[in-house]
Amino acid sequence: MMFILILFLFIHPISSLSYTVQMNDVDLNCRKEATKLSSPHIEILSFNIWSNELSIPGTLDFLMSLNVTKKLSNDIEFSIKVQRKLGSSWINLPCLAGTSACEKQSFCGLIQNACKNKSFIRPNIKDNKNSCSCDLDIGTYTIEHFLIHIKRKKSAKLTQSITPGQYRFHVMFLKTKPYTTVGCVVSYLTLLKANKFT
Ligand SMILES: *[C@@H]1O[C@H](CO)[C@@H](O)[C@H](O)[C@H]1NC(C)=O
Ligand SMILES: *[C@@H]1O[C@H](CO)[C@@H](O)[C@H](O)[C@H]1NC(C)=O
Repeated sequence: MMFILILFLFIHPISSLSYTVQMNDVDLNCRKEATKLSSPHIEILSFNIWSNELSIPGTLDFLMSLNVTKKLSNDIEFSIKVQRKLGSSWINLPCLAGTSACEKQSFCGLIQNACKNKSFIRPNIKDNKNSCSCDLDIGTYTIEHFLIHIKRKKSAKLTQSITPGQYRFHVMFLKTKPYTTVGCVVSYLTLLKANKFT
């Protein structure tokens, strides 16, 4: 009985979904990808992570600077694909895994949230009347908190998918009508078991 209790205490932290996060690399504008962007309308200048911990469900918080090289319409969308390294290949985590990554999201919504939170930095301060508008002019912008929510589905699949290891978050910006990729960044992260004893 005592043995089982001790065993449980030992194993329990291993099954909890709490990680230390390390960013290993970033591929700005997806230069290492097979399908290269010739001249992105959204050129990613930097993509860094604030978070050094992740609990699931939880949020990863990034800082992103971008250079808009062509005036953007307000119908830009973005999608986030999460992949897990297994051996030497990258496996897509399915939507079933419970990340919010599957549906395309409105870039305008992201800008407006960031703007309301005063975490959207625009080049033209004088242009503050329409400061939350989404049709961005040419120039450099910073989104101080680009949040990626990691959900948890009540399925055993997730606990298998999200284990300590290497992940990549592939963020793509898309122009609609017709769908064209206008910006891209890949962030390489390692999730480590959070050590509660240090
Ligand atoms: C933004 O893009 C324009 C047009 O390509 C370029 O001239 C400018 O140097 C870029 N700015 C930065 C900060 O990279
Ligand atoms: C903005 O702030 C609210 C309230 O603090 C928070 O719930 C929301 O997640 C924030 N959004 C962004 C994009 O930072």
